[in-house]
Amino acid sequence: MNDVLGADPADEARAITPWVEVFRRVRAASEALCQPLIVEDYGLQTADFASPPKWHLAHVSWFYETFLLTPYLPGYIAFDPAYRKLFNSYYEQVGEYHPRSQRGFLSRPSVEAVYRYRAHVDAAMLELLDGASPSIWPTASQRLAIGLNHEQQHQELLLTDIKQHFSVNPLRPPYRDDLPVPVPREAPTMGWVEHEGGLQAIGHGGEGFAYDNESPRHKVFLPPFALASRPVTNGEFLEFVEAGGYRNPALWLSDGWSTVNREAWAHPRYWERHGSEWMEFTLGGLRLLDLAAPVTHVSHYEADAYACWAEARLPTEAEWEHVAANLAPRGNFVDSGVLHPQAARGDGLQQLFGDVWEHTASAYLAYPGYRRAAGALGEYNGKFMSGQMVLRGGSCVTPADHVRATYRNFFYPHERWQFQGFRLARDL
Ligand SMILES: [Fe+2]
Repeated sequence: MNDVLGADPADEARAITPWVEVFRRVRAASEALCQPLIVEDYGLQTADFASPPKWHLAHVSWFYETFLLTPYLPGYIAFDPAYRKLFNSYYEQVGEYHPRSQRGFLSRPSVEAVYRYRAHVDAAMLELLDGASPSIWPTASQRLAIGLNHEQQHQELLLTDIKQHFSVNPLRPPYRDDLPVPVPREAPTMGWVEHEGGLQAIGHGGEGFAYDNESPRHKVFLPPFALASRPVTNGEFLEFVEAGGYRNPALWLSDGWSTVNREAWAHPRYWERHGSEWMEFTLGGLRLLDLAAPVTHVSHYEADAYACWAEARLPTEAEWEHVAANLAPRGNFVDSGVLHPQAARGDGLQQLFGDVWEHTASAYLAYPGYRRAAGALGEYNGKFMSGQMVLRGGSCVTPADHVRATYRNFFYPHERWQFQGFRLARDL
């Protein structure tokens, strides 16, 4: 975990220099992810849920402008007042926002203007950090930590949204044509790691940055359980497909079965049948399906149906965290440069972190004692605690220093354009 991104901002009140370095690094990483794009790619929006790269680049800048520069940098002049609405995602307390489904309508501002906007915000942020007074720094550094983590979340979305956009182009363009292609190998046999459970604590309660939804730390009772040693693989999920899993209503949640029929789902998103072979669209283009790698781009509904078919269940988020809390958060993250899930190696508990976000059986709800922060930043996480499910552990496109054992990601149960996979659990 990075020293500053993971640090408690209040403890860093007089140590601004490391923040400058991290700010530069996070900003540069977003732009580096866009280097493989051509200018026509920047405005693409091929689905309501997937934003254009240009919008992501501008929106993360809007975040610093709105929550740091406007309140804390005396005399700050906005780059363009119209951007306050254009690049607001969903903050009602900031004002109106351009509809999510219409982000692809924004041929103007140009890509060039958005890069100038970024440079304007960068210069002002460095001025703010250079002259930040001790009186504002405790609050400003809290907001800066959120802003940097927010930009990292959008770095992941940049990649998953580009994958969506390119997948519907008949040319199937690779985002990058120099990504490593996995050498075929067998996945290790899936084992079960047993845990006695008991009264355990979960949630963030220690040092370092965490989102508000990870707190308060609290006790949960876990009956004895077993967690699979690795995620379910493409090969295993293919057995479910070939056994008629998508045609058997007995396996599905009611809303899931409705979705299967409405969307005509017959396999994970990005799988394609070519003659007798299964292929998958990846950020490196169309490839043979890697049967040993974790299955990905499956919704909560598909994960749950598979678990039902396999006579197991999904783990709760508390079970997952109780196990993960003892492990270093290392794995196949974006920093590895693979940009695709890889097959597990060896025996024992593997891949809790990285490769694929892991579906859990837990609804995304407030922990006992949770209170939303006051003001617009209180809208960051709290207002989404309805109808979504928790996923854990990060994926192959998550920045490595962004994730921790207590981290709670959340998506609607039908969504599957993120790198979402799962591992099984069962009662003992
Ligand atoms: Fe955002």
